[in-house]
Amino acid sequence: MNDNTVIISEIKRLLGGRQPLAYVRSFGCQLNTSDGEKIKGLLRKMGYGFTEDEAQADLIILNTCAVRENAEDRVFGIVGSMKKLKELRPDLIIGIAGCMTAQSHIAEKIKKSYPQVDFVLGTSAINGLPRLLLDCLNGAKFSADIAEYDDFSAQAEQVRESSFKASVPIMFGCNNFCTYCIVPYVRGRERSRRPEDIISEVEGLVRDGYKEIMLLGQNVNSYGNDLGGEMSFPQLLRRLNAIEGDFWIRFMSSHPKDASAELIDAIFECDKVAKHLHLPVQSGSDGVLRRMNRRYTAEKYLGIVDEIRRRDPDFSLTTDIIVGFPDETEEDFEATLAIMERVRYDNIYSFIYSRRTGTKAAEMPDAVSEEEKGARMRRLLELQREISTEHYKRFIGRRMRVLVDDVSKKREGYVSGKSSEFIIVELEGDSSLIGQFVDVEITEAMNWAVRGRRV
Ligand code: 5AD
Ligand code: SF4
Repeated sequence: MNDNTVIISEIKRLLGGRQPLAYVRSFGCQLNTSDGEKIKGLLRKMGYGFTEDEAQADLIILNTCAVRENAEDRVFGIVGSMKKLKELRPDLIIGIAGCMTAQSHIAEKIKKSYPQVDFVLGTSAINGLPRLLLDCLNGAKFSADIAEYDDFSAQAEQVRESSFKASVPIMFGCNNFCTYCIVPYVRGRERSRRPEDIISEVEGLVRDGYKEIMLLGQNVNSYGNDLGGEMSFPQLLRRLNAIEGDFWIRFMSSHPKDASAELIDAIFECDKVAKHLHLPVQSGSDGVLRRMNRRYTAEKYLGIVDEIRRRDPDFSLTTDIIVGFPDETEEDFEATLAIMERVRYDNIYSFIYSRRTGTKAAEMPDAVSEEEKGARMRRLLELQREISTEHYKRFIGRRMRVLVDDVSKKREGYVSGKSSEFIIVELEGDSSLIGQFVDVEITEAMNWAVRGRRV
């Protein structure tokens, strides 16, 4: 364990009793948001408070995402605009964290073209933050820590975004090398947290009144592969399900190639595990799946779907889809539309393929135009709207258990939340319901949500 106690007290001494403010912004996936919560936890220890206004901040940390190019462009745009802020206040410290930092060409670009950036913090080096900050406070020009520390398993102190929904990473990294994906390069190989660390973290969260625990990993189904048979993901689900309390367990993401019969048994046998599975299909074409190195066919994928639907025809499925993988033909694309119609997802997360330097797919020829990719995306979204509208009707007249998470932005006097199926539910109510489970009888289905009344 990298011990920060001495460094932290040195920082506090330098700050001299003043409470500086930090602005921390996370981009991308929930794992990155969870890293952002850890960064904030460390900052709180050092005496920082937090602000949502970058103009008020003494320290700005952008916790970045590298999965698609537009996420990177956004960050460069923001860092560019911070040059002015820095000129006005030379004491301002600016740091870049997250997945972008792990790509050497990006790290170089930051160092060369963005002198307003004071430090770069790698995804496996969050505990190196106090050291970097201390260097900056002592006047260092530019510092970086992208080391891989082996202290990832212990329960880190966090400043959590929500008081009733908590993310708990169970593993880091990925071994799958899907050909389009940068994650294995920026997050390294799979490392599973110790089961006892995860269990005690979840126990603590439940004790603190958390109602939803989201277990996170790039591929949770391979949890424990590096623990020598000590615990698998289905076993972990069962163990967490046995914790006393009224809470839900969700998890993300599951690679279809590892979605085993044991996993499906555990989902159906654990009463706290939500009735929803996010199972990224990426494409419905076997040719594209092969070139993506996904290691399953559409038929194998549908076998998992059919087994789930055999046990519960209404079970909720969502997915990720990439449109416009290099040289995707019209036929390939139609196979994706076909699998969407066959599965009838409750929701999809779709992305236009983004070329990532260093990945295998980046070397593949691609004759499909951007216009064509955009047109395919629109066709796909149109189809999903029809499917969702039709499919959500199955809930009309039925009861759903809902965890209310906010007041409705669309309708005054209404709140919204997510059902166990991960479907947005709107109901009449006020902010006192936020963070509570309520039972709702569904009266109406829309294409993005259902609506109902409390029972
Ligand atoms: N281009 C577009 N989408 C991508 N994803 C991952 N890499 C890329 C890429 N290069 C999508 C996949 C994955 C989700 C998290 O992001 O669908 O499941
Ligand atoms: Fe990327 Fe594939 Fe790993 Fe998911 S499973 S993080 S898509 S390489």
